[in-house]
Amino acid sequence: MNNTEQQIKLIHDFSYQKMSADHTGHNFDHIERVVKMANRISQQEKTDKLITLGAAYLHDVADDKLVDDPAKLESEIRDFLKSIQLDNDQIDEIMYITHNLSFSKSLSKNPPKLSLAGQVVQDADRLDAIGAIGITRAIYYGGANAETIYDPTIKPREKMNKAEYRNLDNETIINHFYEKLLKLTSMMNTTTAKKIALHRQQFMYEFLNEFKSEWLSEI
Ligand code: ADP
Ligand code: NI
Repeated sequence: MNNTEQQIKLIHDFSYQKMSADHTGHNFDHIERVVKMANRISQQEKTDKLITLGAAYLHDVADDKLVDDPAKLESEIRDFLKSIQLDNDQIDEIMYITHNLSFSKSLSKNPPKLSLAGQVVQDADRLDAIGAIGITRAIYYGGANAETIYDPTIKPREKMNKAEYRNLDNETIINHFYEKLLKLTSMMNTTTAKKIALHRQQFMYEFLNEFKSEWLSEI
C-alpha cells in the first residue's frame, strides 16, 4: 500500500466507527456505495483520489440531522485527518466538501460552489438517493419518521427552504419523490453521473406509475 492508500484505509476505519450505528438510511452501506460511485466518477473526471474518497467516506459523519453537535464532530474529523498526516489544504478541502454537499444546503438562496472533487462526491451521494436503492431508502426513512405512505389529497410542496424540507408533519413518502428525488437527475454536476441518473429516474417513474395504478385498483 502506498501512503495515499493507507490514508484512505484509515479514513475508512474512522468513518466505519462513526457511522455503523446509524439506522436512518445513512448506515455504512450507504457510505460504501457513495465511495464506490465517487471512485468510478472520479476516474472519469480525473479528480484527486484522496480528496474525493476521503470526502466521500466522511460526508455524513457530522451531518446535522444525525448528530447533536456537528461542529464538535467536524473538529474531531480535522484532528483525525491531521493525525494521519494530511496537510492543511487537504483537510480544508475535504471539510469544505463535507460541510456543503447536502441536498438541504442546495435549497439555500446562495447554494455553495463545490470544487470538481466536491461535485463528484455530491453526484455520488445523490445517485444513492435515486433508483431502486433510492426508493428503498425513502421508504426506510419515511418509516423511521412515521411518515404517511401516500395521500392523494396532500400535494407535493413546490418550494421549500431547509426547515420546511425537514418538517415532516404533512409529508408523504410518495411526495418525497416529487419534492426531491425526481429533481436530482437534472441537478447532477458531471455527465458520467447524469447518464447513470437517467436510467435510475426511468425506473422511479415506472415504480410511481405502478404504485398509483395499484392504489386506484386499476391493475
Ligand atoms: P442529504 O443528506 O443530502 O441532505 P437527505 O437527508 O435529504 O440527504 O436524505 C437522506 C436520505 O433520506 C435520502 O435517501 C432521501 O431520499 C431520504 N429522505 C430525506 N427526506 C425524506 C422524506 N421526507 N421522506 C422520505 N425519505 C426522505
Ligand atoms: Ni450521504
